[in-house]
Amino acid sequence: MELTTNLTTFALDVDKGLSAPQKYLSSSFFYDEVGSIIFQQIMDLPEYYLTRCEAEILQSHCQSLLEVFNTKAGFDLLELGAGDGAKTTILLEHFLKQGADFSYGAIDISPSAVAGLEMDLKAKFPTLCLQMIADDYFSGLKQLQLTAKRRKVVLFMGSTVGNFKPKAAIAFLKQVRPYMNEGDLFCIGFDLKKHPKMILDAYNDSQGVTAEFNYNLLRRMNEELKADFKVEQFEHAPIYHPQNGCAESYLVSKKNQNVYIGALDKTFSFKAWEAIHTEVSYKYSLQEMEEIGKAAGFTSQTHFLDAKRYFCNAIWSV
Ligand code: AVI
Repeated sequence: MELTTNLTTFALDVDKGLSAPQKYLSSSFFYDEVGSIIFQQIMDLPEYYLTRCEAEILQSHCQSLLEVFNTKAGFDLLELGAGDGAKTTILLEHFLKQGADFSYGAIDISPSAVAGLEMDLKAKFPTLCLQMIADDYFSGLKQLQLTAKRRKVVLFMGSTVGNFKPKAAIAFLKQVRPYMNEGDLFCIGFDLKKHPKMILDAYNDSQGVTAEFNYNLLRRMNEELKADFKVEQFEHAPIYHPQNGCAESYLVSKKNQNVYIGALDKTFSFKAWEAIHTEVSYKYSLQEMEEIGKAAGFTSQTHFLDAKRYFCNAIWSV
């Protein structure tokens, strides 16, 4: 049932995107089982500085974060898009060592990521009160809201907000806000504007792992939608616009070609060097970051930076 629904959504979205005058595919389809594994590999790449910078922030500011998060009654941490939880573990470990009274809830669309994280956390922190949910963010928030009675601290890390265009980011954050009460906090990770070459390299690594992440979309369509994409006839092509802070990824067709998608019983034509847009990853200035929070109805409390000022975790209140 679940699979049929996803397949239909995927098929419909692919049909819409590949029929558009400027072809596109939604980056939300990157994260199937294989895509999630490739993303874990991306986070370990020398060029992909984002994960290390955020981990540095959490490591060096864990005590300040605890002081900002804590109340007399303790607090409930809720993470949107928890993935493998590697960075969050830094916080959990410190908070437990300090004897803080808190619980941890994680929402992730990938059931395997949630199951893996739950096993890891139970083994590492047997006393920690956990609530793990494999669902989309809003269904997950609905379930968690019922149980959370004290301050909620919603974690939205890793610069996932950058995968929305700024207007869509504000709309998304506005949708999260009603699930929070006065006094609740939002801890959100932003990748900051920096040398354009450094940003571009993060999305065009020398080992070709990010390219594989992009090609996986074509492989997914081949497997799930019975398409006949010849992956080697497409090129991973990322660009970075320093003016609007947007890193974008494309899959460019290297020749004139037709691709048949069985699930849609349709053939799509690609001209030589025609591009399919697959992802945006926006980078922000500190001022733009504050503006996003304000536009979504949050009040900026404080923020934490890594030593090189590449990444920022902002704390907003409701
Ligand atoms: C998940 N997200 C924050 C990553 C990013 O940097 O935009 C996804 C990614 N795409 C290519 N490399 C990493």
